[in-house]
Amino acid sequence: MIPIEKYFQVSAVDIRRISRDFRAEMEKGLTGRKSSLKMIPTYVRRPTGDEKGVFIALDLGGTNFRILKLVLKGAGRSGEPRTMKFVLKKGLITGSGVKMFDFLAASLKTFLKKNKMSSEDRIRLGFTFSFPVNQTGIASGTLVCWTKGFEASGVVGKDVVILFREALARQGLFNIEVAALANDTVGTLVAKNYEDPHCDIGVIIGTGTNACYPEKVTNIAESKFQIRHCEEARSADEAIQKKEIASGASRPRNDESEMIINIEWGNFNKLRRNVYDRRLDKASDNPGRQILEKMVSGMYLGEVARLVLADIAGGGMRFTGIDRKHVAKSYGFRTEEMSGLAVSKSADPVVKVVLDMVSSRAARIAASCMAAIITRMDPRLTKTHTIAIDGSVYEKYPGFSMKVNKALKELFGKRAARIKTALAKDGSGKGAAIIAAVA
Ligand code: GLC
Repeated sequence: MIPIEKYFQVSAVDIRRISRDFRAEMEKGLTGRKSSLKMIPTYVRRPTGDEKGVFIALDLGGTNFRILKLVLKGAGRSGEPRTMKFVLKKGLITGSGVKMFDFLAASLKTFLKKNKMSSEDRIRLGFTFSFPVNQTGIASGTLVCWTKGFEASGVVGKDVVILFREALARQGLFNIEVAALANDTVGTLVAKNYEDPHCDIGVIIGTGTNACYPEKVTNIAESKFQIRHCEEARSADEAIQKKEIASGASRPRNDESEMIINIEWGNFNKLRRNVYDRRLDKASDNPGRQILEKMVSGMYLGEVARLVLADIAGGGMRFTGIDRKHVAKSYGFRTEEMSGLAVSKSADPVVKVVLDMVSSRAARIAASCMAAIITRMDPRLTKTHTIAIDGSVYEKYPGFSMKVNKALKELFGKRAARIKTALAKDGSGKGAAIIAAVA
């Protein structure tokens, strides 16, 4: 074992500690005390599965964004979504916010034209906006700070739905009603839950990382809601409950008044950092923030590995299978490249060890936090839980999902059989469309 490996080890004791600390931090965040977890109320609850209609979603969470049209048929069924992908060039994510929103609206116009959707018909749209947003209602919220390399000006502190609506108006798209604003984790949870009522956690492990779950409204401090919207939420809740009673629907998931909480777990900071983590953080555009994200997500895993490899090799880096130029440059070694090398027969054994320790640590930290959420909802693990997970790291990094399951087993023993982890590909957009239907 190379000594550096020790820096990255997350032992059986560590996963328990992380899980315990994460739970404590969740509780602090919920009750409005100082916490690295924002625990943002989203004004969204799980769907009933009966939602119907045609909806559009715009899903923005990174430089690639998607627009999709979804037909919900009720009874948990939906048609195959029609999707178009667009790319936000670097200039647009670091330039003026108005220009960025104009590009989103113009792309939507292209999508509607392509799908022959008339500009006369009223269209309900779910807006997935995957950044820390302080939600003030189901279709309103202000951006707290950018993450994942976005820096567009004039957006932090503003209501992103208003900015989007203004851009839609500039494109003449007056028929679009932005009915819901959702984080990608919330979309992922809702999309999976539409077909599987046991799904109660949504997780993203991609460029960024985050999770959400439903919480009893009575456990969320009043101070976390804006009063006007709190009343709105309550009356919406009552209306839903009345409708459920009238229709005789009594699905277990709607028994209690609940609201999905966007944890923003990327900012969790009760983790033991090593010299490479500190180096990466110091050189980042958001030092001291998104500590867990910098140890777990795809935006940073390649860079953590690169820093370790550069250190091992000193000045004269020479590893088979790796381009020296990539490793000499900050962020020159991408997480996708890591995925390829991890299974490549020709890769240097030292490189493989480094990649394994960096990715294993990520998987074990993520699993510890998932375990904390489950324990918060179901302390004795008596029920069945599905965790819907999306994101390039979880989907594509060799062995990542297996490592998550292994850690869950270490934490829960045989009872881990009650937890199902499910890849929920592209759920975030679909979920936003469903939320637009509920709203
Ligand atoms: C970042 C964002 C968060 C999002 C996650 C996954 O952590 O702050 O809102 O859910 O990335 O895309």
